[in-house]
Amino acid sequence: MNEFRAYPDAASLARAAAEHFVTLATAAIAARGQFVVALSGGSTPRATYTLLARDEFAARVDWPRVHVFWGDERCVPPDHPESNYRMARETLLDKIPIPAENVHRIRGELPPDQAATAYQAELEAVLGAGGRFDLILLGMGEDGHTASLFPGTAAIHEQTRWVVAHYVDKLSVWRVTLTPVVINAAAHVTFLVSGAGKAERLREVLDGPHQPDVLPVQIVRPTDGRLLWLADAAAAVHVRQRGHGVQED
Ligand code: 6PG
Repeated sequence: MNEFRAYPDAASLARAAAEHFVTLATAAIAARGQFVVALSGGSTPRATYTLLARDEFAARVDWPRVHVFWGDERCVPPDHPESNYRMARETLLDKIPIPAENVHRIRGELPPDQAATAYQAELEAVLGAGGRFDLILLGMGEDGHTASLFPGTAAIHEQTRWVVAHYVDKLSVWRVTLTPVVINAAAHVTFLVSGAGKAERLREVLDGPHQPDVLPVQIVRPTDGRLLWLADAAAAVHVRQRGHGVQED
């Protein structure tokens, strides 16, 4: 199932995303005793993580039952300004009662292949053989990448590994990323997209032809899960059918 919701601005998008996180966490903990989530990097989710740390949201989550992973990481140490882990730690993880052993960061300071192998093992230990996250949060880059699945990279078509380390030529950097194998096994995959700079790409992704080598975001199609797009009005403006209308939660 593929659902699209648009909100008037970035602030209401962040509130909707925080509410969505709390709702899914509550349901997963009630059903299975834990909530396993992958956070996205980039700048868009910063506002959502900041809200989640506030009492109105944080107090509704049983944090000791939450396991936090990441969709991708930059190959930098955990205190580096580019670290996705650092962003989540500063905005959210330092402010909530989550046990340190429930925070499963990608070790960006290690040689990339070693970081990927260690992360795969940590995922298997928590998720088991099924590899089913309760929620994976993702963003979309202006070039149509998601996590660190960039246009034209082999990782888009990975068939077995849950994690790969690869050198991204266009950025001249190494990245470690979840692959579609584990992304598409999730119960919920939710994209957060904000800003006019993403509007044209979002239209192509949702309403254009299926060409995941060009627009890797399109490879995300949960096999037995729910795909949800949360966008602000500026990003949603060109999206067809679903209209320009702002649909509230
Ligand atoms: C990363 C990401 C990446 C991100 C998009 C959108 O580490 O860079 O996880 O996939 O989500 O590039 O980033 P913005 O939210 O900054 O636009």
